[in-house]
Amino acid sequence: MLKVKNVTKKFGELTAVNDLSFDVSKGQVFGIAGPNGAGKSTLYNLITGFYKFDGTIEFDGKNISGLPTHKIARLGISRTFQIPQIFESMTVQESVNLGCRFGNTGKYDPGYSDKMISFASLEKVRGNKTDQLNLLGKKRLMIAAAMATKPKILMVDEPMAGLNALEIKQMTSLIKRINQDVNITVIIIEHFMKVLTELANPILVIENGTEICIGSPKEITSNPEVIACYLGDSHDA
Ligand SMILES: Nc1ncnc2c1ncn2[C@@H]1O[C@H](COP(=O)(O)OP(=O)(O)O)[C@@H](O)[C@H]1O
Ligand SMILES: [Mg+2]
Repeated sequence: MLKVKNVTKKFGELTAVNDLSFDVSKGQVFGIAGPNGAGKSTLYNLITGFYKFDGTIEFDGKNISGLPTHKIARLGISRTFQIPQIFESMTVQESVNLGCRFGNTGKYDPGYSDKMISFASLEKVRGNKTDQLNLLGKKRLMIAAAMATKPKILMVDEPMAGLNALEIKQMTSLIKRINQDVNITVIIIEHFMKVLTELANPILVIENGTEICIGSPKEITSNPEVIACYLGDSHDA
């Protein structure tokens, strides 16, 4: 479904993404892990057309390298951001409606927007301004707005960061429902290994932009290089 082939991104002297290749198949929850600064969010920025890069990215057999962000979104790739990106002057309902209008190249279906608000457990706050939401609420809103575009792939960037234990359970369940109930392929960047191994298979681990390994949760967590790269890290916090 998504084919990343020999993708490299340099920022001046720094190689943020170094010759990465991997395939995401339809129906998967594909995990991406790696220490801070490994190049995970940059990889999302490349897939979603924020920067030019070397290599190719194909989606559903079409080369999407170099396409502008909105075209990539309309093809069916939607994402959330590590630090919530929301329209603070808008209400929750308006924000999700916007996703709904933006994604549907055809007819605007406000009913689908309401469906996504319920899906992300935002009914009670639908009339609230988005800046009144707590962190979990903002993260749910980003997911609801992204889902309202009816993506084929949803990419989430550290959805658990900053959440407490109960909120992590709720977010984990939301991501499972996206994949299992709505049948959307998910890519998840997550620092919190316990959650990632519960949700994702396969998992790609990168460090300094370079692949360390890719495999099942079992393979990843028993890989000595992965263990070394995570040693002293707060992955089990
Ligand atoms: N727009 C940019 N300009 C320059 N350097 C960047 C830019 N975006 C990311 N970087 C650098 O690229 C590296 C990878 O960053 P990032 O992809 O955000 O890592 P991660 O998400 O894995 O923590 C970091 O060293 C970061 O400082
Ligand atoms: Mg990041």
